[in-house]
This record gives sequence, structure tokens and C-alpha cells, in this order.
Amino acid sequence: MSVRSAPEANRIAFMSKTTSREIRLTTRPNGLPTAANFTLGQVALEPLQDHQVLVRNLFMSVDPYMRGRMNEGKSYVPPFELGKPLEGGAVGEVVESRASGFKPGDAVTSNFGWREYFIAAPAELHPVNREIQPLSVYLGALGMTGMTAWAGLKLVEVKAGDVVYISGAAGAVGNVAGQLAKLRGCRVIGSAGSAEKVRFLRKECGFDAAFDYKAGPVLEQLNRAAPDGIDVYFDNVGGESLEAALSALRVHGRIIACGGISGYNAEKPTPGPSNLFNMITKRLTMKGLIVRDWLDRQDEFEHEAGGYFRAGKLKNKETVVEGIEQAVGAFIGLFSGRNVGKMVVKLV
Ligand SMILES: NC(=O)c1ccc[n+]([C@@H]2O[C@H](COP(=O)([O-])OP(=O)(O)OC[C@H]3O[C@@H](n4cnc5c(N)ncnc54)[C@H](OP(=O)(O)O)[C@@H]3O)[C@@H](O)[C@H]2O)c1
Repeated sequence: MSVRSAPEANRIAFMSKTTSREIRLTTRPNGLPTAANFTLGQVALEPLQDHQVLVRNLFMSVDPYMRGRMNEGKSYVPPFELGKPLEGGAVGEVVESRASGFKPGDAVTSNFGWREYFIAAPAELHPVNREIQPLSVYLGALGMTGMTAWAGLKLVEVKAGDVVYISGAAGAVGNVAGQLAKLRGCRVIGSAGSAEKVRFLRKECGFDAAFDYKAGPVLEQLNRAAPDGIDVYFDNVGGESLEAALSALRVHGRIIACGGISGYNAEKPTPGPSNLFNMITKRLTMKGLIVRDWLDRQDEFEHEAGGYFRAGKLKNKETVVEGIEQAVGAFIGLFSGRNVGKMVVKLV
């Protein structure tokens, strides 16, 4: 008869009870995803091996880029596999560790979102400071979306005095891009999809001007906000906003090509801007951004953004939806502007 030590017995008792719910992609969406494209499944976790860590997710991220991974075909990241759990950013706490450097209670970020628990190798985890609360900030202003905003401004060397126009401005990337551009001494204009969001940009994020892109033609509203033109366009949206920005940009203006959410659910390719010729006549520069290319500068971002955050100069605005059962609805809600700031799902 073998005699197990108390911690070992507890561990086995815990493991035998632990199951994790997860969201799986069952069919590829055509157009706007619906709940029928997903299922909520359950798995029993394998016993922990040496050099592995068991993590319980506290918050998970839903992001527009995930829509692209739901399509078949190669992009800059592989498509999600049918029948498998989705992946994405998450922040959680270590429950059990058989790896050096991690102990129960540690807070970590990972790409194992869309599930309640997971087992990972240390290299798949990024430790974060648990004293900063709520931990969802590591999915927003101090996480991937905040870093996208920070990297975008670096990409085209945004500097004091620039007039910067940001579309999708009340979202996760947009509101941080605006706040950071203000901290760099820029004049900042934002567009978003409701009067409430416009107020948020003006009153809470310090934007100099903001407008509701649904309330009238974007170019007319942009021209009113920036009668002398803009130097930089931070594009989160594409479509009409990109076309308006091409018209409003000054000579040698710069565009950060970050996202094009207005086209993510298009069932066939949409024509590009009708005024692309402005690139030539105004000698414009348009640079594509993939935040993952900047991971070697994550420490620099965390130092700068973390400093602003602790000093109260950078706010983390979020919309929190509770429960893994609500995650699909939260994701679909991104396409109708249900979120102000970062959309996160609270799992515990
Ligand atoms: N390149 C990268 O590495 C990278 C990294 C992260 C994100 N991104 C991109 O950056 C953009 C913003 O991402 P996020 O995470 O910050 O999302 P988000 O802005 O927090 O959420 C999406 C927002 O897009 C707006 N929207 C939805 N449909 C729209 C439409 N047809 N026209 C205009 N606006 C629309 C909605 O706000 P309204 O109420 O204002 O419509 C919604 O709240 C996305 O395009 C995303 O793919 C790129």
C-alpha cells in the first residue's frame, strides 16, 4: 500500500475534481458571427507534470482580430481550428506549480483565453504585478491593446504638435492611443459611434475634439474638427474613415494602419478608398502595424505605460461582461460598439 503525503493527496483530490469549461468554434462564420458558430464544452484537466503550471483564468479578452482567425486561410496568424477551443489574451492566477519561478497566487497573462483553467509551460506565461488591480488592466491599457496604441504612435514617430485623428477612438486601442498622444503634446481628434462615446473621449480621455461618425459624413465632421488638416491618422476602422483621413491629411502626413473593423464581416472584398491618389500628391506614408512584431520592446512599453498608469495620467476604461457563457455575446458585441474602452469577460 502506498502512503501519499498530505499536499500530494490534496493535489490529486483537486485534480480529480477540476474540469474546465471552454468555448469552441464549431462552424466558420459567414458575415457577422452568431452564437450558432460556437459551443461551450468541458474538459477534464490532465494531472500536472514536472515543469508545468496550472492557471485559473480571472479575465479573458475578446478582440476584433479574432474574427479574422475564424476564417479559413492563411493570415499573419493561423486560423482557429474547428472543434478546438479558441485562443486569446487572458489574465489569471497560478493554482498549482511544478515549475520553478511560479507559485500559487502569482498573476500571469497568457494566450490561453476562452477557457476557465489551463496547463502551460513557463515560457507560455508572462508574470504581472498582482498589486495593480483590477488585473483586467493587463488586457487593456497595460496589455496587448495598450501596447498596440503605444507601438502605433512609435511606428510613425508621433511628436508634440502633431494633429492626430483616431478612428474607433472609444475602443481599447483608440482611447489609449489618444491619451498617449495627448501626453506627447499632440492635438487629438477622435471618432466613435455614439454621443456617449464622444462625451467619454472629451471628458475622460482629454481629446481636444470628438465626433459621432454615425451622425453625418466623416469628412465633413473631420474638417470641422481640424480645419487646417491632420498630420497623423491612427486607423482602426478603414472604410469611410480612411477615405476621409486621406483627404484631410497634410503634405507628408502619416497613417498608422492598425485595423479595419468596418470590413471584418464583409462577405466579399470591398473596394479600397476612392482617393488613394492622395498618397502620391501629398507624399503620404502608410505603415502597417502588427503588435506582435514589437514584443522585444514589451519591457519598454510596460515601463512607460505602467508609470503613467500609476501616476494617474493614463486611465484604463473597460466594459466588463460576467461569465464564460457571455463571452461569445461580448465578442459579437464588438461589431455593434457595445463596449466603451476594453471589452473583457470576468470569469471568476
Ligand atoms: N495591428 C495590430 O496589431 C492590432 C492589435 C490590436 C487591435 N488591432 C485593431 O485595432 C482596432 C481596434 O481594436 P480594439 O481591440 O481596440 O477594439 P475596440 O475598438 O475596443 O472594439 C471595436 C470597436 O469598433 C467599433 N466598430 C465596430 N464596427 C464598426 C464599423 N463598421 N465602423 C466603425 N467602427 C466600428 C465599435 O465602436 P463604435 O461604437 O465607435 O462603432 C467597437 O466598440 C481593430 O480594427 C483591431 O483589429 C490591431
